[in-house]
Amino acid sequence: MTTPPTLSVRSLSVNFGSNRVVRNLSFDVYPGKTTAIVGESGSGKSVTSLAIMRLVEYMNAEITSGTIMFHRDANGSQPQDLTQLSDKAMRKIRGKDIAMIFQEPMTSLNPVYTIGDQITEVLMLHENHTKTSARAEAVKLLKLVRLSDAEAMLKRYPHQLSGGMRQRVMIAMALACRPKVLVADEPTTALDVTIQAQILTIMRDLQQELGMAVIFITHDMGWWRKWPTR
Ligand SMILES: Nc1ncnc2c1ncn2[C@@H]1O[C@H](COP(=O)(O)OP(=O)(O)OP(=O)(O)O)[C@@H](O)[C@H]1O
Ligand SMILES: [Mg+2]
Repeated sequence: MTTPPTLSVRSLSVNFGSNRVVRNLSFDVYPGKTTAIVGESGSGKSVTSLAIMRLVEYMNAEITSGTIMFHRDANGSQPQDLTQLSDKAMRKIRGKDIAMIFQEPMTSLNPVYTIGDQITEVLMLHENHTKTSARAEAVKLLKLVRLSDAEAMLKRYPHQLSGGMRQRVMIAMALACRPKVLVADEPTTALDVTIQAQILTIMRDLQQELGMAVIFITHDMGWWRKWPTR
């Protein structure tokens, strides 16, 4: 039996008013595999990832055609079309089953809360953690993304971290609920080459450990030379 794709996008179109910025896009993403979306600036990569998360409607855009089929697991469960789900149903999936690393770390980190508060909130919301167990899990996650002194990191605010640290915190948050699908929108573009390589290795290791399907968005045509294989 062949494994079905975790996510199957067919003929997806997204409009800002009458301006169609994503046109008839189709692709599949398989468990433990990476599908890259490569394109120049303004070609609709971020809008595509926000459509998958059903966040486009919060920015006055609309999915005007297509389907986004999500297969939670290979055997058993019926696939769901994310374009047809209610906002309430989508809130359960977002962050838990499908997580995203945003292009701009500051858009997903709230400047007024500590890193610890933000990670523990996700864990308490989706994973039924208590405050104490969520904190212990947050420390584990920060160690997983190789942030040293995880305990001290929990008490810091996003602006007190470097770009590379923020990016790793975002990865830790995205992975908190062991998602089936990770959408990584230019996760390393803003970072220097050494940190880029480290972060790609971390993502690659975690992908294999968790069997995640990864959508890797970049405008770097040579991205695959940097994606660690082993
Ligand atoms: N909030 C918005 N309102 C109106 N148009 C928008 C909005 N956000 C994006 N667009 C338009 O949608 C198109 C696609 O933008 P998108 O952000 O997806 O590009 P991108 O491929 O991610 O580019 P980059 O590589 O620079 O991140 C662009 O032409 C842009 O002008
Ligand atoms: Mg973008």
